[in-house]
Amino acid sequence: MTPYVADPVYLNGRFLPLAEAGVSPLDRGYLYGDGVYEVIPVYSRQPFRIDEHLTRLQATLNGVKLANPLDVAGWKAVIQQLIAAAPWEDQSVYLQVTRGADNKRDHAFPPASVPPGVFAYAGPLVTPTAELRTRGVSAITVPDQRWARCDLKVISLLANILARQQAIDAGCAEALLIRDGYLKEGAASNIFVVRDGVLLAPPKTPLMLPGITYDLVLELAATHGQPVKVAEISEAELRSADEVWMTSSTKEILAITTLDGVPVGNGIHAGKPGPFGEQMWQWYQDFKNTIMRKG
Ligand code: PDD
Repeated sequence: MTPYVADPVYLNGRFLPLAEAGVSPLDRGYLYGDGVYEVIPVYSRQPFRIDEHLTRLQATLNGVKLANPLDVAGWKAVIQQLIAAAPWEDQSVYLQVTRGADNKRDHAFPPASVPPGVFAYAGPLVTPTAELRTRGVSAITVPDQRWARCDLKVISLLANILARQQAIDAGCAEALLIRDGYLKEGAASNIFVVRDGVLLAPPKTPLMLPGITYDLVLELAATHGQPVKVAEISEAELRSADEVWMTSSTKEILAITTLDGVPVGNGIHAGKPGPFGEQMWQWYQDFKNTIMRKG
């Protein structure tokens, strides 16, 4: 069976086999989902945009008032060691910091003497298969029931989990989250829309995770002189889009070809990945195979 977590993992200052990595049931990550995380894609053993991921980690830590247990050099050393020990060339590195384990359950922060819980591991990078990519995936829309700080990458993901599972139960790959009539993002992805040749992206607000892949897509569009509009996308605009894509560090760029059972787009592209998305995927692959693989 393919392992999804390489040995060793990193836990609270030590590298050790996953089977020996244990945490207290009083850890606040376990009791409250009181913690933060990052997922960093690794190409040819080069972590992609590691500084940007560590900056987002810091922003999330600041947002939840949790001290960063490691400095940038410390994180990079941990990440490099995990990558070097893992068997895959392309990987996905997971980082997590929780508010640690006190000797009791209390909503208020534990004393400063309680150390944070720090966990990190490397797994294989599993990107969509060629078959899935050329077919596209189905998605549903659901009301966004998350809190008001979706810009923070926190481990309390229950609303995201329920939305994603609702999609899975409907035979779909992703749930698109609608708040007050506007598209925010997917349960675990950012969403782009194409209308009349223009790439539309929801703006970065506290109600959306600022994706590292999202930034790259906008950069690639600018590099290649494509028209882009960063603005709130209404549910009506979403439903009449020519193309809809989801993006994330692990999914890269994946076309959503059916939304709530209705084919996305019109004419010969209806229900199929559209030309803009195909082109963006190719630019992304070119960038990956030149820049990203060199670090
Ligand atoms: N999720 N929005 C949400 C809610 C996400 O969970 C993610 C990624 C993204 C895309 O961000 P990025 O491009 O930086 O991966 C947007 C990760 C992959 C996860 O939870 O596993």
